[in-house]
Amino acid sequence: MKTIFSGIQPSGVITLGNYIGAMKQFVELQDDYNCYFCIVDQHAITVPQDRLALRKNIRSLAAFYLAVGIDPNKSTLFIQSEVPAHAQAGWILQCIAYIGELERMTQFKDKSAGKEAVSAGLLTYPPLMAADILLYSTDIVPVGEDQKQHIELTRDLAERFNKRYGDIFTIPEARIPKIGARIMSLTDPTKKMSKSDPNQKSYITLLDDAKTIEKKVKSAVTDSEGVIRYDKENKPGVSNLLTIYSILANEPIERLEERYAGKGYGEFKADVAQVIIDALTPIQEKYYELMESSKLDDILDEGAEKANRVASKMLKKMENAIGLGRKRR
Ligand code: TYM
Repeated sequence: MKTIFSGIQPSGVITLGNYIGAMKQFVELQDDYNCYFCIVDQHAITVPQDRLALRKNIRSLAAFYLAVGIDPNKSTLFIQSEVPAHAQAGWILQCIAYIGELERMTQFKDKSAGKEAVSAGLLTYPPLMAADILLYSTDIVPVGEDQKQHIELTRDLAERFNKRYGDIFTIPEARIPKIGARIMSLTDPTKKMSKSDPNQKSYITLLDDAKTIEKKVKSAVTDSEGVIRYDKENKPGVSNLLTIYSILANEPIERLEERYAGKGYGEFKADVAQVIIDALTPIQEKYYELMESSKLDDILDEGAEKANRVASKMLKKMENAIGLGRKRR
């Protein structure tokens, strides 16, 4: 069975973009692959975090993973900081990576632009992400489009390491969905939907209630043509709403275009909102139930144990290959 690894940062709300681009794929893949899903809390601290909020977000993200349908009997769910091999292997991979290639990462450029003080961790984030993936001999990494560059760097680092120290790492591949890999902002559909956007109207969170969803979709930026048709270049707003509708209702975009031919944006938007509400309501019900139960801790304990077993073995292999420490008896 091939291995899958993916992670999500517990840095604030979880958006519809995270769900469509990543989580929804995870659920579909867990029947056919050996899956590891991680709450990457060490990645979250590359930018300042409030201690109590971070703790809450970690727990909340664990509940979301389960609420969307991750089954702990099929997948390993764990918190990154509870598996020390990630930071240890991350350090080794930092020593393999070049500053120049890290500075070229678009996420680093975006997040550091205009800032006076930027943490070193923001720059060395990709080798830690590479460690996450490589520790589990991962074959496939399901992610949204914005992570593609990081996976390419992971491949480069793995190949570089293998060449220098022997064939240790599996070279992973990104799995990016054909549609929905980049859900756009509702207020500026030329930009990615992002939880760090200061305008809350630009994104839908997995906990938004029906009224909020209706309001946000109603005020979503479209265009003045008045035709419901997929055209990413000229009609990014309508195309984004069609994408969301198509994925959540599991209907091809062409069929939606036919259904809404001659109809106005008002009716279309009301239906998009309803489709989102129908998708999120059962997730929210399960989420609140899980947040109340102790089941969550048992699942995370078990996940950390299994992940530690696998990751520490790979870390040892890496250390032996490089010559760190002493030869183990
Ligand atoms: P993060 O936490 O920003 O996002 C989690 C996942 O959600 C996807 N995503 C989107 N997909 C479609 N449209 C959007 N608007 C959208 N916004 C976010 C992301 O592509 C991602 O798949 N560096 C990673 C976390 C990470 C990781 C890893 C991922 C750390 N280690 C190892 C995979 C493997 C990140 O910041 O994702």
